[in-house]
Amino acid sequence: MNDIIQANGLTKIYPAGKNHSPLRAVDGVDFTVRQGEVFGFLGPNGAGKTTTIRMLTGLTRPTIGSARILDFDLLSDLTRIKKHIGVVPEASNLYDELTAFDNLVFSMQLYGVPRREWKVRAEELLFRFRLSEKRDTPFAKLSRGMKRALTIAAALSHHPPLVFLDEPTTGLDVMSARSLRQMIAALREQDVTVFLTTHYLEEAERLCDRVAIIVKGRVVALDTVDRLKSNAQQKTVIEVTLANPEGQQEKKRIECDNGVEAEIQHALADANGQRVLAVNTLRPSLEDVFIQLTGLNTEVMLVEKGGKGGGGNAGG
Ligand SMILES: Nc1ncnc2c1ncn2[C@@H]1O[C@H](COP(=O)(O)OP(=O)(O)OP(=O)(O)O)[C@@H](O)[C@H]1O
Ligand SMILES: [Mg+2]
Repeated sequence: MNDIIQANGLTKIYPAGKNHSPLRAVDGVDFTVRQGEVFGFLGPNGAGKTTTIRMLTGLTRPTIGSARILDFDLLSDLTRIKKHIGVVPEASNLYDELTAFDNLVFSMQLYGVPRREWKVRAEELLFRFRLSEKRDTPFAKLSRGMKRALTIAAALSHHPPLVFLDEPTTGLDVMSARSLRQMIAALREQDVTVFLTTHYLEEAERLCDRVAIIVKGRVVALDTVDRLKSNAQQKTVIEVTLANPEGQQEKKRIECDNGVEAEIQHALADANGQRVLAVNTLRPSLEDVFIQLTGLNTEVMLVEKGGKGGGGNAGG
């Protein structure tokens, strides 16, 4: 089995309310997630990311469509699927008054992990998520980043081969987000497949093997970050760094419509005795790809909900 998730035409229609017509929150989505990869679902607020996770984890039923998860059918084998997946929702599902250690034990109890394994597994998870020192601290007293890390640890406590993370770094400060991304990246070594949603382009770029870009309930692109970038690039863009005799530097961006050599010669013809310090080929960022594919300004990705921390936390 190479495909750990296979979604076929997944659709969620929320019925009409007093002031609105029916909404296709997720609209005929097809994708596969391969064993061992970090798969990113990238899209702006309201794109349908959480709804997709809720369908795949059995919290809401697809209106149309089907999915296979770990070779089980989503609609008929949900109980078995639930035993073999970990789910980290946007808001934590752990208990404020329980300590970090006890939350992990409680979670293992729910999943039917044998009692003799509880202590060893809990200590190991605390260590892996850099929480050993907080072993006996109540959940409520942990920092935001530690809460997020412990919630992920709890979702892994029954050793699921597949975990769903809904915006794992939203609302975290730069350092906590970076540290959490390292922990998520390390799951690969544990053979855990990760399905994660994010609205941080840089996060998707750093963390994900493949990325689906979802806008208004539809997948508009799905590929490795590298391939998304090379498909998006239509012409070579070169950046020449020049220095004048006084040592002042200037960068010139050259879009090469007529062949690289001709364009560089043309640009250097009006360089007026400046020295060439560097010539670089510019690669499109995932941001360029996003703008090109969606026609949206990347500002739409910065809308924050609840947590502080701003949209820039994907840096570093
Ligand atoms: N229970 C519901 N009833 C009606 N509409 C809903 C419900 N849940 C979500 N929606 C709507 O469905 C659309 C998709 O919502 P969803 O939460 O899946 O988006 P999202 O991509 O997770 O967004 P965010 O980045 O804000 O978390 C939104 O327009 C939302 O308002
Ligand atoms: Mg969401």
